[in-house]
Amino acid sequence: MQNAEWDCPLCILHSAPCHYFPAMRIAIIGAGRVGMALGHGWVRAGHDVVFGVRHPAGKEVLVGRVASVPEAARAAEVVVLATPWSAAEEALRSAGPLNGKVVVDCTNPILPGLAGLAIGTSESAAERLAAVVPDARVVKAFSTTGAANMAHPAYGEHRVTMLLCGDDAAARQVVAKLTEDLGMEPVDAGGLQVARYLEPLAMLWIHLAYKQGLGPDFALQLLRR
Ligand SMILES: NC(=O)c1ccc[n+]([C@@H]2O[C@H](COP(=O)([O-])OP(=O)(O)OC[C@H]3O[C@@H](n4cnc5c(N)ncnc54)[C@H](OP(=O)(O)O)[C@@H]3O)[C@@H](O)[C@H]2O)c1
Repeated sequence: MQNAEWDCPLCILHSAPCHYFPAMRIAIIGAGRVGMALGHGWVRAGHDVVFGVRHPAGKEVLVGRVASVPEAARAAEVVVLATPWSAAEEALRSAGPLNGKVVVDCTNPILPGLAGLAIGTSESAAERLAAVVPDARVVKAFSTTGAANMAHPAYGEHRVTMLLCGDDAAARQVVAKLTEDLGMEPVDAGGLQVARYLEPLAMLWIHLAYKQGLGPDFALQLLRR
């Protein structure tokens, strides 16, 4: 899919070429640090963003709109899961049918006190969640760096690298385009099983930031030659 005609995320999703880049309808479940950082960037890029929250009445957000979780998910082509790992399965189930939708898993299965990962090496949070929604096109992304880097991905002339993985190649391309729209450099890491490596990489970032004293203002970048 090198042809510019195929760069449009909607056309990638529906396997049909077009010549323009329509806005995508994105539901973000969880209006916390990650959800808000992503939502701001996508609204700025022209996408239609709805935050799916547990208690929409009276909930205010600076960008996008607010709805219940199932309402937000129903209208969306892309559903982004940005809740704590402990709430992820419940939040995903509460979204209703997600058949055919791109579901982006941002969660990391972090133990309380940043003590480590609750699962890993022979499975991953992403694979567990994909089993909950077998008809969705799950992509792991926006998990290996801090929320502040998602909001401000430029380091001088450098951009934050965002590794993503999933079993559906078209869904990975959609998420790669959405990553670029945020100003990060997407790197396609392959199938969903690769989440077994991405989640520990996220834990390494957390360890460096909060245990080794680097703080959240650093990012990992893939260099090539
Ligand atoms: N923070 C980071 O830098 C970072 C970076 C990469 C990945 N992550 C991962 O991304 C996920 C979100 O992190 P965060 O820092 O954004 O968390 P956060 O600031 O605590 O926000 C989590 C959000 O999830 C919502 N939520 C909780 N349970 C829910 C449910 N059952 N249904 C719907 N919404 C629910 C909360 O809403 P209420 O107001 O209703 O409680 C809250 O808005 C975590 O899994 C984390 O490991 C975080």
